[in-house]
Amino acid sequence: MYKNTSCGSLRKLDKGREVILAGWVHRRRDHGGIIFIDLRDTSGTVQVVLNQELFPDSYTVGIEARPEWVLQIEGEVSKRPEGTDNPRNPTGGVEVIAHKVRILNSSKVPPFDLDEEAPEADELLRLKYRYLDLRRATLRDNLVLRHKVVKYIRDYLSQRDFIEVETPILTKSTPEGARDYLVPSRVHPGNFYALPQSPQQMKQLLVMGGVERYFQIARCFRDEDLRADRQPEFTQLDLEMGFVEEEDILGLMEDLFTGLAESIVPQKKVLKPFPRLSYADSMARYGNDRPDLRFQMEIADLTDVAAQTDFQVFRNTVESGGVVMGLAAPGCAGYTRRQIDDLTSLARHWGASGLVTVALAGEPTDSLEGLAQEDVRSPASRFLSLDDVRGMAQRLGANRGDLLLIVAAPFDTAALVLGHLRQEMGHRLELADPDLLAFGFVIDFPLLQWNQEEARWDSPHNPFSAPKDEHISLMDTAPEKAIAKQYDLVCNGVELAGGSIRNHLRRNQEKIFELMGHSLEEMQVQFGQILDALEYGAPPHGGFASGIDRVVMLLGGQDSIREVIAFPKTQSATDYLFGAPSPVHQRQLRELHIQTLD
Ligand code: AMO
Repeated sequence: MYKNTSCGSLRKLDKGREVILAGWVHRRRDHGGIIFIDLRDTSGTVQVVLNQELFPDSYTVGIEARPEWVLQIEGEVSKRPEGTDNPRNPTGGVEVIAHKVRILNSSKVPPFDLDEEAPEADELLRLKYRYLDLRRATLRDNLVLRHKVVKYIRDYLSQRDFIEVETPILTKSTPEGARDYLVPSRVHPGNFYALPQSPQQMKQLLVMGGVERYFQIARCFRDEDLRADRQPEFTQLDLEMGFVEEEDILGLMEDLFTGLAESIVPQKKVLKPFPRLSYADSMARYGNDRPDLRFQMEIADLTDVAAQTDFQVFRNTVESGGVVMGLAAPGCAGYTRRQIDDLTSLARHWGASGLVTVALAGEPTDSLEGLAQEDVRSPASRFLSLDDVRGMAQRLGANRGDLLLIVAAPFDTAALVLGHLRQEMGHRLELADPDLLAFGFVIDFPLLQWNQEEARWDSPHNPFSAPKDEHISLMDTAPEKAIAKQYDLVCNGVELAGGSIRNHLRRNQEKIFELMGHSLEEMQVQFGQILDALEYGAPPHGGFASGIDRVVMLLGGQDSIREVIAFPKTQSATDYLFGAPSPVHQRQLRELHIQTLD
């Protein structure tokens, strides 16, 4: 028997117990005559005492042992001497007096310090030695959290008659908007499987196959530009139901995610009920479709007020069909020239031609009362009357002491830039409560968007989404006005899930593909399987998928999904530990009928 007790489980009540422990040397402190070893296993650490006088043999082993050596310890649990408790460790009231120490393995000096209190090592080094990094408490906690999240979801859905069904990994391209990872076929020269970007068509076909409540913890693959919340392979909770409407799915999502957060991270607060915003509203008020609802500082439209001013920049923008929009940064009226230049260059970086700032100087108050012309500090102040400024400030909910940030541009640019500025200022001013999980639904997405470059319609999310019933005919007359039965779940500025009610009538699905520029023949080649199935009694159906990595990242308060994935890839889609992707043998390529160009 290597161990009969786990290190992290020992408490004062265990005093006097004889235990066998096994684990890694976390820390070692040699006090001459006494060596303290913090022994670590998956449950935590406990202090082990090696006493030269009492147990000279174990002391001798302790002299040799170094961090990350693997030891087995037999000893007696004892209360720590008065005044030496460590309240930061749950085992901090006890220590184990070792009478026998056995070395199970030694370790080279680790390339970085595994102590949580040590400064974090370079990420590439951590990825290369992931098996060491995984020994750190934070990563271990993240994996435990991930396990709990997935277990909660499986239990929750099983109790509600969902069944988990696996779908193929070697499949055919399905359009989710990213590039496919392709796998060459040996048996069919020149042909390729695609790894699924999501099991979208499979789950629809399952519902058509009579599986009325499907879910899967599904691995998805997308060859797209990576960010902190994107990986080339990631995991979705994928779900689909037959005979449902939008309201049924939204209700299920709200109940699932509320229960999940409340039971797994009870210390966090959840906004209830989840607010709902239309896509148009979200763009206008938050500048994006994944608003961070933890704080206000909303964007507002100032076009009508701005058009009345003498400021040419505003007037010209409005005359050429653009808008003037802004937000009020609370308490920032005292920003220096340098701080303002910095914000302006950020706004330019995001696509604005400039940023108009208006500081409402004076002691911060919760009103505009007493605001005088001399309190207005702005590069445009010569062209803005006090009434103009008041009008804009009122629209933005600004008070004295605030700084107005205003962008004049076409709507899409103004919204995008202000959306970024809102996030940036929210971050700088620490407006978001770190303990809040601010979930919200974004609904009523446009069914189609015009793709100028390719002169055709594009589906912004998923071409299988159905239009609202009353908008079906708009597909013929004004496709840009058609709204889809499509919804996203956001939390703290992250898109956590997306889904829709699908087209279950072939004519509507065909119409969407047609608007997207597919000929009937192309449709049959690419989507024949699902189009044909729609003709054999496909029930009304819908569902959603949620990024598990992102859910765990948010619940665990991490900044990157790489922290919640056991073996993640880098921003350049590289696996640093295995060195993938890597060249393969010529013979393998020949078998696959593949020739490389360089
Ligand atoms: P969508 O493409 O919105 O929808 O994906 C669903 C959710 O998956 C997560 N996600 C990602 N997570 C990590 N890395 C990525 N590269 C990545 N891409 C997406 C996000 C996102 O909200 N088939 C549809 C769902 C449906 O309509 O049912 C789909 O895949 O959290």
